[in-house]
Amino acid sequence: MLLELSAPQTLLVGAVALVVALWLVYSPSSTTDTVSEHYGLFHLALNRLPDGPSPPVTEWLNMGFWREETLFPRACRALAQNLVVAAAIKPNANILDVGFGTGESILFLLSDPDVPQPKKITGITNVSAQCERAKRRVANAWPQFAEGAEQRVFLYTADAICDGSQDHPLSSPDTDSSFDAVLALDCAYHFNTRWRFLHQSFSKLTPGGRIALADICFAPQGLSSLKTRLVTSTLRMMPMHNRTTVLEYRTRMQDAGFEDIVIENITSDVFPRFIQFLKRQGWNWWIFGTILQIYVSTGCQYVVVSGRKPCSSN
Ligand SMILES: *[C@@H]1O[C@H](CO)[C@@H](O)[C@H](O)[C@H]1NC(C)=O
Ligand SMILES: *[C@@H]1O[C@H](CO)[C@@H](O)[C@H](O)[C@H]1NC(C)=O
Ligand SMILES: *[C@@H]1O[C@H](CO)[C@@H](O)[C@H](O)[C@H]1NC(C)=O
Repeated sequence: MLLELSAPQTLLVGAVALVVALWLVYSPSSTTDTVSEHYGLFHLALNRLPDGPSPPVTEWLNMGFWREETLFPRACRALAQNLVVAAAIKPNANILDVGFGTGESILFLLSDPDVPQPKKITGITNVSAQCERAKRRVANAWPQFAEGAEQRVFLYTADAICDGSQDHPLSSPDTDSSFDAVLALDCAYHFNTRWRFLHQSFSKLTPGGRIALADICFAPQGLSSLKTRLVTSTLRMMPMHNRTTVLEYRTRMQDAGFEDIVIENITSDVFPRFIQFLKRQGWNWWIFGTILQIYVSTGCQYVVVSGRKPCSSN
């Protein structure tokens, strides 16, 4: 496979990446802020098109679905579109979008011709600066959707998992605020835990509603290998506390109550070209691309997982 590294190569690249990662974490320069802030605005640079404006028009941040795309923002849009299809979103739906970043997925759901017009979109991000920026972006494009009688977009700064607080979109069920679709685009590997997220989402879905997640799984043998554990525990850039396998994912979806579960392996349409793209974006992205490549070589799979809440349940 394109991404296979031999053992000595892995060690070498791993060692280099480790040194650089440590330097990034401990150096007092502004790079530290970029890394520790994690998802500030650094992703804007990735959205720049060869002849496009600066700052770019889009603010996507996901790994992309590159089957038919060659440009980062187009690939990101294609991955979001994949989720919309997996969630079988119908016109006039009430959608929960978790991990919306600076709001590109919200704008996409509101305006892309390939997305059936939603009635209402609720979003959660855990970074307040991103939430404020997303609110401004929505308000600039559609002031009437941002507030007032026609408000359609409701954005929250919160953890994806509800800890019992009332002011959280996943707080205890009431039918007025249940969702026809729950989307988690390239973020569920951060959740603590995604299984709690599946349960909470299930209880807030309308019967017949679907959840769809673009997420990362590991091969069963990769999960416990020394290499995986070394890589995941040493490098903080992709904190996958909750590594899982496709098999476990399916079981957990069933446990949460979902039916018609589909797990699509889209690894080959995501990682190779995303890594290739990253490595062309300057040295710091090269490092990130290399780290990701090591992850992938440990048996990482990129999946689109979806399932339906049974129509008869409540
Ligand atoms: C948001 O979540 C990410 C991923 O888990 C984490 O690294 C980051 O520290 C969180 N940020 C805030 C402000 O909670
Ligand atoms: C998921 O990660 C959190 C945070 O590191 C940890 O406390 C929890 O035990 C993990 N859960 C599973 C199922 O691994
Ligand atoms: C998923 O796809 C990748 C890339 O095509 C492949 O290497 C891997 O074996 C697949 N995994 C499963 C479980 O089918």
